[in-house]
Amino acid sequence: MNTVIDALNFRHACKKFDPARKITATDLNTILAAARLSPFSFGMEAWKFLVLQSPDIREKLRPACWDQAQVTDSSHVIAILARPAQVGPGHSYVAESFGRRGLPEDATTAYIEKYRHHMETEVLPRMSLYAWCSKQCYIALANIMTTAASLGIDSCPMEGFEKDRVEQILEIDTRKAEVAVLVALGYRAVQQPPRRRHPMETLVEIR
Ligand SMILES: Cc1cc2nc3c(=O)[nH]c(=O)nc-3n(C[C@H](O)[C@H](O)[C@H](O)COP(=O)(O)O)c2cc1C
Repeated sequence: MNTVIDALNFRHACKKFDPARKITATDLNTILAAARLSPFSFGMEAWKFLVLQSPDIREKLRPACWDQAQVTDSSHVIAILARPAQVGPGHSYVAESFGRRGLPEDATTAYIEKYRHHMETEVLPRMSLYAWCSKQCYIALANIMTTAASLGIDSCPMEGFEKDRVEQILEIDTRKAEVAVLVALGYRAVQQPPRRRHPMETLVEIR
């Protein structure tokens, strides 16, 4: 596999995983490296990648995920968590994040102010901080899936779950983090179905 397009063609939402095949620690680390390297608006990195390897945990989780077999038959499930509580304008974490850039104090102050203005005028009137962080989590989701595919590993992104129930089962302190999306990883048990996509000309407009 030598191009990104090859990996994107290989990737499909895998419904039937081979329960006998497990991802190696090396491949898992590569996939997690891709997640970590993903961009987050303003560099906030307000996410966490909760790797569910234990069959017991995934067995408990499955009923809260529409009983989807991918949860138990895959090798690993990654719960991508959003951390909205720490990115509200004025939160000390925001200042710390800009501080990490090592800029002069006035530039850091200007960034903090620009962030506050952007959040208050553009983001918060339209969506919650959870939704904003979740948008960034989906970038990591895409990179996880594409990187997995480049390694010959299958994936299934999953929004089909009851958020509150999943958070309870995973004992997530929802004052600090909330589940944005899940992704199952492993190896396909059957061939992928033919791809369905709208024609390019209906999706792309060049001006
Ligand atoms: C955010 C997201 C959530 C999804 N949730 C589920 C899910 O819970 N279960 C499932 O089987 N497929 C799920 N899918 C898979 C989509 O149905 C699938 O990607 C789409 O039909 C296109 O098929 P393809 O990925 O095989 O090209 C999800 C996809 C995305 C992007």
